Amino acid sequence: MESYWSDLALLDWQVELGAVDAIGDAPVDRTALEAVKPAPKAAEAKAPPPPVTTEALDPVRLARDAAAAAADLEALAKAQADFDLCEVKRGARNFVFSDGTPGARVMILGEAPGANEDRVGKPFVGEAGQLLDRMLAAIGLDRAAQDPGQGVYITNVLPWRPPGNATPGKADVAMMVPFVERHVALAAPDVLVLMGNTPCGAMLGRQGITRMRGTWVEVLGRPALPMFHPAYLLRNTAAKREAWADLLALKAKLRDMP
Ligand code: URA
Repeated sequence: MESYWSDLALLDWQVELGAVDAIGDAPVDRTALEAVKPAPKAAEAKAPPPPVTTEALDPVRLARDAAAAAADLEALAKAQADFDLCEVKRGARNFVFSDGTPGARVMILGEAPGANEDRVGKPFVGEAGQLLDRMLAAIGLDRAAQDPGQGVYITNVLPWRPPGNATPGKADVAMMVPFVERHVALAAPDVLVLMGNTPCGAMLGRQGITRMRGTWVEVLGRPALPMFHPAYLLRNTAAKREAWADLLALKAKLRDMP
């Protein structure tokens, strides 16, 4: 009888704890049953993904990797067009890669497309571009010429038009520099012309075109000549005199180089 009342009290206590079904006559200590613990699910068992490092997210590093993987100009154009971390890309209508003769002795590096270039998808097609064509023609160069000795290859630091034609920001320039460097290596010109402050800043890390113009420097192992940008010459016609001197220096360099 004693056992009957104590068993009933135990049963009451278990019901109070939430037991609803009797599934066996003998008690089982399930905490002692290691073997029946469920195996971890496949996803839980996998090693955790590696942490995302700031290095992996660095846009300049990503640009360098993308540019370095391009084996020719076509692949470089695709890699740059696909690069999504440059904010100005969002506001641009077109990707503006280059114009002229790949392999030409002279490569011109401008700043960024303007409204006309953005519409057409080619660099230097607006008023400044037309002046540039006349300047080049004055020393026997022509972007339409197939002959690399007479032809010119033209590109910009930025391939997208900055909103409102603003001067490109430092971060945007920094992430485009690896593409420009690869562009120069693949186009392999004898001589580079840096048109204005933005390409000087991008390739030389310094600006001050009024002081720098007309003095040859070295960029990526090639002679480079900083010159006034044609858009500046349209606004400051008196500076055309210096631009003419620089064009003659370019012509002399091409003549004297092996
Ligand atoms: N100015 C530039 O620097 N590049 C262009 O393509 C047009 C205007």
